[in-house]
Formats: sequence, C-alpha cells, structure tokens
Amino acid sequence: MPLVPPYIESLRPYEAGRTTESVRKQYGLTRIAKLASNENPLGAAPKAVEAMHRSLDSLHLYPNGGLDLREVLAAEYDVKLDNVIAGSGSEGIMSNIIRAFLCDDDEVLTTDAAFIGFQVLAKSRGVKYRTVPYRDWHYDLEAMAAQINQHTKIIYLANPNNPTGTIFTRHQFDEFYKHVPERVLIILDEAYFEYAKDNPRYPDSMHYRYDNVITLRTFSKIYGLAGARIGYGFAHEELIRNLLKVKLPFEPSTPAQAAGIAALGDKEFLHRSLELNARGLRYLTAGLQELGLTVAPSQANFVMTVLPTEQDAARIFENLLTQGVVVRPLKAFGLPNCLRISTGTDDDNRLCIEAWSKSYAANLGTSHAG
Ligand SMILES: Cc1ncc(COP(=O)(O)O)c(C=O)c1O
Repeated sequence: MPLVPPYIESLRPYEAGRTTESVRKQYGLTRIAKLASNENPLGAAPKAVEAMHRSLDSLHLYPNGGLDLREVLAAEYDVKLDNVIAGSGSEGIMSNIIRAFLCDDDEVLTTDAAFIGFQVLAKSRGVKYRTVPYRDWHYDLEAMAAQINQHTKIIYLANPNNPTGTIFTRHQFDEFYKHVPERVLIILDEAYFEYAKDNPRYPDSMHYRYDNVITLRTFSKIYGLAGARIGYGFAHEELIRNLLKVKLPFEPSTPAQAAGIAALGDKEFLHRSLELNARGLRYLTAGLQELGLTVAPSQANFVMTVLPTEQDAARIFENLLTQGVVVRPLKAFGLPNCLRISTGTDDDNRLCIEAWSKSYAANLGTSHAG
C-alpha cells in the first residue's frame, strides 16, 4: 500500500501481556496469577480511587492540560512549573519527545532489547535506531558512549531497566555523561524509580539536573494506576516549553490527573507496595535460582530469567499458562530465550514458583538439570 511508509509497514505493533480473562477462558481456570505487565498486585492507591470518583463531578469540563499535577510536582521536587510536564502515561510523553525533537537524519541510541514501548515509538519515526549489547544484563554505558556520533540525537536509558530489572549506578552514569555532547538528549526513563530509590548506588536524577536530560516517571507501577494513563517528566524549561507545543492540549484527563495528585499523598499504600514487592523479589529470585535458573539482579517489580533456548522459553510460557500463571515472553523485546515475571501477591508468587517447579521438571528437568 503506497500510502504507508516502509518503516511503518515493517513495524511490529506493541503486544501487551495476556489478559486474565483471555487466559481464564482459554484454559477454563478459576485462579489466575497475572504476572505479565509489572502492575501493582494490590490494585490502585485507595486515595487515588477516591479522588478519581470525586473528579467525576467535573467530567463535562475540559481538563487543564495537567497544570494541577505540574504545580504539585513542582512544589514537591522544588523545581519551577516550567520544568515539569504531565501526560497520558510516561509513554505519552515519550511519544511527544520523539515527535518534538527527532528530525529525519537523527539517530536514536539505546541498548539491545530495550523497553518495547520505546522501541516501537522510536522505530515509528523512521530514523536510524542503533543499539549496544547488554553486559551481564546491564546497560553497557561504556560501549554506548563509544557509539555516539554526529547524528546521535536521543539516547534512551531506563533505570531500572525493563525487561532486565537491573540498574546502572550513579558513578556509571556520571562517567557516561562526560561523553555525551550537549546536543544529545538523554531520556532517563524512571518508571520503576520508587522501587530502586532507597539503593544508595541508584542515581535519582532529581538530585542533579542536566540541561539535556529529561526524566520520565509514571503512576502506572507502584501507584497502581496503569489503567488511568498518567505520567510526568522533569526537564530544562526550553525542552518542556517545546514539548508542550506538541502535546495534546487536553491530556491528561481530569480523573487521571486527580488520581495522580492523590496518589502522591498515599504514603501508606506506597510503603505497603514496597514491602510486598521486596518480599516478592526475594521469593521469586530464590525460587527460580533453586531450580538452577539464571535470574538478572532486579531493582524493580519483576525478575527476568534466562532459559537455555527460545523453544524452552516458549514451552515453559505455555505450560505456566495452563497452570494459571501468566508471565511475559520477551521475544518481541529481542530476547527470545528469556521470560519476565512481575511480583504478585504472596499467594501469586507461591503459585508461580509451584507452577515453575512443575513446568521445569516437565520441560527442562531431564535435559538441562544439574
Ligand atoms: C521502562 C518503562 N517505561 C515506561 C513504561 C510505561 O509507563 P506508562 O504506563 O506510564 O506509559 C513502562 C511500562 O511497562 C516501562 O516498563
């Protein structure tokens, strides 16, 4: 079809994880542990839900483009309003960044098998998309710095990273930053920031602001608001001013914005979610390692495990589904022999490891054990 540019024609659309309902129907199951999309197993922050209900009274009015949330965030982080943007999830803002700053001859640089949402967005712009392999499942920032050329325009770094869960440290980022020219924009995607922020080696980007770094954060993960579509970003006022030009004027929606503001105040929920997640990470990591599997060291709300082959990963994924455990295959990310497992409730996590043990015995135990 001549109307479609080749880089759109060849694009593989974003495939979300399986829904609980589709798995329930397909396998006739009652108990499902959905551990495929890094959502909060406790649900949404209760204060956010209440605020969202209250906001329905003004549903007939157009929203104010995220102004209320920007004001709250500016006060909380002690920055100017002009340094903050709010949008329909952090992916909504990412999409605006790509639209606002990439020209035809520009290049994007990131890691192999980067967060798939970014891959799809960047490739949909039709510019050159270059990657550097992981080193032990971590970003290889040294190798990435060596790949910067005169066309590099955007460098995308997720910290913690999805799908590996690993982080780069403050020291590593500082070293890397020395090699990045000012004309290159770094997207620092901190969707999983809250899970990693207490690690003293983690570089919370709000502690030091650079003019060419845009920080992206979201309410989709720890605050449990993935369905509301609300995220935010911090950057130099020039960047924000230009992003606001391309942003849809009425995003985020009124209920989403109200939910985000209230979620920031729901500290009890935040702590409960962090505790559950820390327990889940320990349990899943230990359980999978006891089976003899390689697990990348995660600072997020999921773990990534490495299977011997793509076929092993596909067989285990299908077998787990039959037992009501939905995990995320990573072929579309570019890691066909890996599976990603989000932390769930304690019960979900137990069900998951039980299912893995059976699945492992049935699919890998004889050929690969030991
Ligand atoms: C690294 C990363 N960035 C961004 C997002 C998307 O966040 P949002 O729901 O705010 O668009 C995700 C979601 O999985 C993610 O893993």
